[in-house]
Amino acid sequence: MAGHRGMVGSAIVRQLQAKGYKNIVTRTHAELDLCNQQAVVQFFQEEKPDQVYLAAAKVGGIHANNTYPAEFIYQNLMVEANVIHQAFECGVKKLLFLGSSCIYPKMAPQPMPEDALLTGKLESTNEPYAIAKIAGIKLCESYNRQYSQSHGVDYRSVMPTNLYGPGDNYHPENSHVIPALIRRFHEAKEKNLPEVVIWGTGTPMREFLYVDDMAAASVFVMELDKSTYDQHTEPMQSHINVGSGSDVAIKALAELIRQIIGYQGKIIFDPTKPDGSPRKLMSSARLFGIGWYPQVNLIDGLTIACRDFANTFSESN
Ligand SMILES: NC(=O)c1ccc[n+]([C@@H]2O[C@H](COP(=O)([O-])OP(=O)(O)OC[C@H]3O[C@@H](n4cnc5c(N)ncnc54)[C@H](OP(=O)(O)O)[C@@H]3O)[C@@H](O)[C@H]2O)c1
Repeated sequence: MAGHRGMVGSAIVRQLQAKGYKNIVTRTHAELDLCNQQAVVQFFQEEKPDQVYLAAAKVGGIHANNTYPAEFIYQNLMVEANVIHQAFECGVKKLLFLGSSCIYPKMAPQPMPEDALLTGKLESTNEPYAIAKIAGIKLCESYNRQYSQSHGVDYRSVMPTNLYGPGDNYHPENSHVIPALIRRFHEAKEKNLPEVVIWGTGTPMREFLYVDDMAAASVFVMELDKSTYDQHTEPMQSHINVGSGSDVAIKALAELIRQIIGYQGKIIFDPTKPDGSPRKLMSSARLFGIGWYPQVNLIDGLTIACRDFANTFSESN
């Protein structure tokens, strides 16, 4: 399990443990830098895992992607190339790679289907990260195409929508919209502030999935029998979107979080600040067609996430 301390990796570990998997091999970033080819070679030779979940990645918001584009493309390409190639070298037959919805063109049709990949220009702010994620999909596909007959290689990819839940990054400047709103309403309540100002008009629509649903979908896709996976994918169009299937306006999302936290002040939208794309929704028809559906609705998921933040916040104070 690569990336087991991350939000998604830790949720996949929980999911695997709940399903009775006993021998889950993990290393922290400090113990094994997946950019270091020699260290990755040694790890695979020593451990010889049966399956690999690749949820380790350099991840960040717009600001981080814009400030450190070289780190984002280099580290993600290295992690993917090292892990996928050494998995192959050591006889791993089953691997699941986690990508991201940012692989799709900026102007992709909504909801975005898997075959929108490589049909147009990417969003420029995270292009280096997206290119690395596209390379990850193509690595999996290329190893399948060259080695599935001869070596039984079966490497799959899932593309998550925006995720949230326990273990999220609540950094004040560098977090995604849900953890950022949770933190701001929580702090406004603590400090008795009269209002919370949110950038933009509040009208953009976004899709969110609770992280334990993502973990369940990851294990579901990994465990699918090969004929079902092959029937629903193509050799050079093999990735599967994982979303909730519905989106919500930022305004409604903010109102929900305000209510769950119990903040009594006002929400003010600042329309002079940028909104981003009006809508970003993935089509999860392929996955739903195979028979997987999310279990945690937005209100329940947000309630757990707000509780997680309150626990983390009170522990760190
Ligand atoms: N969160 C989302 O909304 C979202 C949405 C779509 C896709 N995804 C994808 O899901 C995956 C997991 O995301 P996440 O949100 O769980 O991210 P995360 O919380 O930042 O976890 C990533 C993990 O990877 C580790 N890692 C990074 N570089 C490494 C390296 N060179 N060697 C070893 N370990 C390394 C990190 O360790 P350190 O922290 O010690 O560096 C961290 O534990 C990523 O592929 C991401 O693109 C996430």
